[in-house]
Amino acid sequence: MQVKICRDYEEVSRAAADIFEKELKKKPNCVLGLATGTTPLGLYKNLIKAYKKEKVSFKDVTVFNLDEYVGLEKAHPQSYAYFMRKNLFDFIDINLERTFIPDGSAENLEAACGEYSDLLSKNPRDLQLLGIGGNGHIAFNEPFSPFDGKTRLVTLTEKTINDNARLFNSENEVPKRALTMGISEIFAAKKIVLLACGKEKAPAVYNSTVLPVLPDCPASVLQRHKDCIFILDELAASML
Ligand code: F6R
Repeated sequence: MQVKICRDYEEVSRAAADIFEKELKKKPNCVLGLATGTTPLGLYKNLIKAYKKEKVSFKDVTVFNLDEYVGLEKAHPQSYAYFMRKNLFDFIDINLERTFIPDGSAENLEAACGEYSDLLSKNPRDLQLLGIGGNGHIAFNEPFSPFDGKTRLVTLTEKTINDNARLFNSENEVPKRALTMGISEIFAAKKIVLLACGKEKAPAVYNSTVLPVLPDCPASVLQRHKDCIFILDELAASML
């Protein structure tokens, strides 16, 4: 695992964009794993700029998103499907039919997870983007999630519900369940880029990079990955 410390959020977003642009140039039909949340917004802005300047194209790219809330339709403004359109897909030349996200509004959630897992196994990711939760979660793999887990239905922890409440009108509106890519599926990506910014991420960054690999910090398993980089701002790196 490599750790790169940047001055601030802008530098983190630039460093991440450089990696994604390089991959898009090297392999125009690459398979990307993408994340939602506040952290990747700067990266997505940079990728939109690169597309507008014709430095990169997404027309042959396939995207798999990490997770989705249960019970929110794709058109719901707080759904992750909606987030991806409004923050990236609507501004680039991606073929929406090649963008995938677990179906949190499916009638049969277990079947939806199985289908997503099948798709993932047929489409290995070249590059996987991750954020990290304040409790060390990756995607919605909360502490003590199985390292060999696949896409599945999970119940969110109180901490994650609190953290995500800022994006809803009230904490009561935050769905309590989600579908998430499993740790083994995240780990299967050829290259992994994890971004973390802000002092509230410092303990999770410390637990996942300095302490041994432990199930109470799901991101710590990334220490075992052959090609994984953590790109941090100074605040997120402040306990290292
Ligand atoms: C989002 C996801 C989550 C976030 C994490 C950090 O698809 O899988 O694990 O990456 O909760 O979120 P932010 O970036 O909002 O701090």
